[in-house]
Amino acid sequence: MKKWFAVIGDPIAQSKSPEMHNTWYEQDGLDAAYVPIQVKAEDLEKAVNSFKLLGVSGFNITIPHKTTIIPFLDEIDETAKHMGAVNTVVRLQNGNLKGYNTDGDGFVRSLEEKIGQEHRHQPLLIIGAGGAARGIAYALKKSGYEDITVTNRTISKAEDIIDALGSGKVITSDEVSKSLGQYKILIQATPAGMQYGGEVSLPFSIEQMSKGVIAADIVYNPLMTPFLRHAKAIGGTVVTGVGMFVHQGAIAYEHWLGHYPKTEFMIERITKQLNEA
Ligand code: ATR
Repeated sequence: MKKWFAVIGDPIAQSKSPEMHNTWYEQDGLDAAYVPIQVKAEDLEKAVNSFKLLGVSGFNITIPHKTTIIPFLDEIDETAKHMGAVNTVVRLQNGNLKGYNTDGDGFVRSLEEKIGQEHRHQPLLIIGAGGAARGIAYALKKSGYEDITVTNRTISKAEDIIDALGSGKVITSDEVSKSLGQYKILIQATPAGMQYGGEVSLPFSIEQMSKGVIAADIVYNPLMTPFLRHAKAIGGTVVTGVGMFVHQGAIAYEHWLGHYPKTEFMIERITKQLNEA
């Protein structure tokens, strides 16, 4: 029987998830389809119940529903519960809908695909303290990153993340302007630089990045944000948001279908599309 999957969000038209998952189904010879569905905030509960009734095999959740969906699901994975955000839902054998979060692990896979595991002891700074930053912070800690600092425009949210992690530091935007050069790994986890995110810019200067910096961004459209462009210009290593996007989808795919799909060609393909856009 044909399986069906979806991604829900608002807006949703720009999502690259349908093309990515449908390509994987085709490659793996699966009789399955993945569709984008726009769901308004006030319709979220009804949408989740309808999906359940209509026998969805699984779905992804994107902005703005990652947190608000939690009360409408039957079960939540422990890590997703800690993160306070769900991006993947799996229909279990008994019909229950269970929420997971694959964003953080997707980010770490993408980062380590590029830089390996030898930087886990190096000082690392996460910029931002929203849902994405929180998921990334958990996944990094779980993977053995030892020296995590978080900075955010609203400092209390950075403190919440560090409290939840049980280790790490918080620094203000003013402090970042002075100490940026001390961090080997910088992770940009806000919408700054995003094509459709309005004119968001970081509340500190990025001039002080060190030459050997490893700079990673969660934004993938455009591929090269001002943050990444600066890192590249001074000779740093750059990790675009495409790898995180593909790996979060691949981990979701594995939850649904039991094996990890091919990611390398997918990262190349989406990177090429964005380069040409
Ligand atoms: P998500 O859950 O997708 O990460 P979010 O919860 O809205 O999205 O978080 C967005 C992040 O970008 C937050 O760290 C936010 O800072 P605040 O916590 O101070 O709101 C940050 N952000 C958004 N707009 C910003 C701006 N103009 N300048 C600096 N930081 C910004």
